[in-house]
Parts: sequence; structure tokens; C-alpha cells
Amino acid sequence: MNKVIYVDNNASTQTDPEVFEAIKPFFCEMYGNPSSIHTFGGQVASHIKKGRESLASLLGCEPTEIIYTSCGTESDNSAIMSALFLNPERRKIVISKVEHPAVKNLGSELVRRGYRVEEIPVDAKGRIDMDKLKQEVDAETAVVSVMWANNETGNIYPVHEIAEIAHLHGALFHTDAVQAVGKIPINLSRDNIDMLSLSGHKLHAPKGVGALYVKRGVRFRPYIIGGHQERSRRGGTENVTGIVALGKAAELAQKNMKIENTKVKELRDRLEKELTSRIPKTRVNGDIQNRLPNTANISFEFIEGEAILLLANQLGICASSGSACTTGSLEPSHVLRAMGVPYTAAHGSIRFSLSRFNTDGEIDYIIEKFPPIIERLRQISPYWKE
Ligand SMILES: Cc1ncc(COP(=O)(O)O)c(C=O)c1O
Repeated sequence: MNKVIYVDNNASTQTDPEVFEAIKPFFCEMYGNPSSIHTFGGQVASHIKKGRESLASLLGCEPTEIIYTSCGTESDNSAIMSALFLNPERRKIVISKVEHPAVKNLGSELVRRGYRVEEIPVDAKGRIDMDKLKQEVDAETAVVSVMWANNETGNIYPVHEIAEIAHLHGALFHTDAVQAVGKIPINLSRDNIDMLSLSGHKLHAPKGVGALYVKRGVRFRPYIIGGHQERSRRGGTENVTGIVALGKAAELAQKNMKIENTKVKELRDRLEKELTSRIPKTRVNGDIQNRLPNTANISFEFIEGEAILLLANQLGICASSGSACTTGSLEPSHVLRAMGVPYTAAHGSIRFSLSRFNTDGEIDYIIEKFPPIIERLRQISPYWKE
């Protein structure tokens, strides 16, 4: 394969080679069903137990508070649907305008099913309007769901404060922490969060495994009904390789947390500073003081993000415009629109999302290659005036 500079880690991450090593025995050697009575299956069950303990350690929770799922989307759906099912007299949910489609589009579906869904607006930096949130959460609200960190801007949301507001009105609080887990420290043992979603492929485990944390004492109704797996909270034979992988990834995330917040952050800051100083008419989208250490969302005004991505792709640079889920649509991202980013800037926005596998040399390469790409596209843009 040609040179690849991968700065699209909020879309998906490289499986850590140590994670890959850890799961290999579970394909052709230890392939028993963890629910089987025989020792062969029991062996597998013991590895699931170990994986659960590692994930619990990363989250600062009890292993019994974790339910494995197939992805972040399933975790989000399970949490919200459980809250609605268990509180049938409450017909309202409160979310933010910048949620991932896993929550936002579920919200639209719930409206079609007769629920009220209130989307709380954000300001120009993408910060949630807390006054509006306080007004909207009421005795009708079954659940408030606000993401811990945004996938497009990296913005971090005041989840503990929001949980407190939800609880004041007897509502549950769920957070989509798919982008936060592994990048910033989380300690659920001292938190007031009722439910939290995460996804393996965002923290160097493979795709196809996620988890939902449900705080002890919080009632939960399964979304996928079947066998007794996950203490009867999620039916279906366990995704053993996924669970073992997520355990190992959690262990490595804990070990590398400092690197995420020092080395990765330094690389991101340098990339952002150099691109915005070398290229005129750029702007950084998001709350610069309060965001994930790996994410930079930069608008290159008066050109199309898709065109930038195509030219960058020819040089092996893999980035993203908006979230991966909206690629293919030429509509500016709902997150940037909610922030009121002007049309000409929203269209030319690129998300760079780094990981601990990025190097100084790769950042140098992007810094060298990007200015001519932008220059070339602006020369042919009908909107660009020097
Ligand atoms: C914030 C957020 N929530 C949920 C998801 C969905 O996760 P999954 O791809 O595991 O379903 C993503 C994936 O991009 C995400 O970024």
C-alpha cells in the first residue's frame, strides 16, 4: 500500500498490535462457548471475566455494571429505550443539537412514535445552552442524553452538571462517551452518571464491540432479548474476541492516558497552529479551551471540504469532513450548522483526529502538503477573492 498518514481516528482507530496478539488464540484454539459447562468453554468465560475487569478498571466502575453490546450505536439505543420503557408515564427525552446520529436519529424516530424530543441548542463554540436545558428538563422527562465529547469538534460537555439537573426532576442521565473513553480520564465510581455508552473501535480495539455501563441500582430493561448472557441484560452469544480485545485496549488506554494528553495533544496543537498561521482565512471550530486532546476541526474558507479530502487522499492523508457517518452527503454537518458556522466556512471544514500512533514526521508532512492543496483549490473557487 502507498504511504498512509491516518488522522481520522474519531472515525475508527488502528487495532493496537498488542490487542491483536491478545485475541489470536480465540479464533482457532479457544473457540468454545463461554456458557458451556465443559472446561473448554469455561476457559473462555474466564477471559471474558478478565476483559470485563480491565474495562471496569478504565471506567472506575464495578465489572457487574458493564453490559457488552455490538457497538456504540446499540449502547445508545439500549440506554434510551430502557429509560422510556421503564418510565411509561414520562413521554419526553432531552438531548443536545450536536449528538451523534446514534442518538439524534433515534430521537427523530421517537418523535414519529409519539414522544417529545427536545434538542438543546449550542452557542458559536458548540457549548450547550445550560439555561435552556434547565428549562426543558421537567417531570415529563424520562431521560436526558448528552454526549461526553463531540466527535466532530472534540468539545467536552459538562455531563456531571447535566446529570444533576436530570436527577432534580427524577429523570435518568445517559451519556454517549464513545469519543471520550480512552482519551480523557473517567471515574464512574464517584460520578452521578446513570448510563454511559462506549465503542471498542474508537480506542484501538476492533470494530463490532461496544459496552453500556449501567450504574448499580439503576433499573435496566434489555434491548436485545434472548439468552441469559450478560446477566440476562443482553441476549446473544458473547463476542469473545471483541470483549477480550476491548479489555486489552482498556488496559493499554489506561497505560497511555498520559500520552494522549501530552504527546498527542502537542502534535494536534502544532498541526493546528501551523496550518492556521500558514494558510489565510482559516478558523478553528469548537471550544478550544475545553475539548479532546486529539481533535482539530479547521475550516478552510471558500472551498469544499470534499475537494480538500480528495486531494489530500492522493497524497495519502486520511482525514474527514464532518463525521464519517455524514460523508457522502454534501450537506454541511449538523454540528457546525447548530453552532452557526457560516456556510462558506462550514463547507470547507476538515476534522483531523490523531492517536498515539501518529508521529512528528507525519504532522510535518501534513503541514507541508496542506497549504498548496488549499491554494490550488482557492484558485479555482468562484467564492475566493484574494
Ligand atoms: C459520539 C459517537 N457516538 C456514537 C458513535 C457510534 O459508534 P459505533 O460506530 O460503534 O456504532 C460514534 C461513531 O462515530 C460516535 O462518534
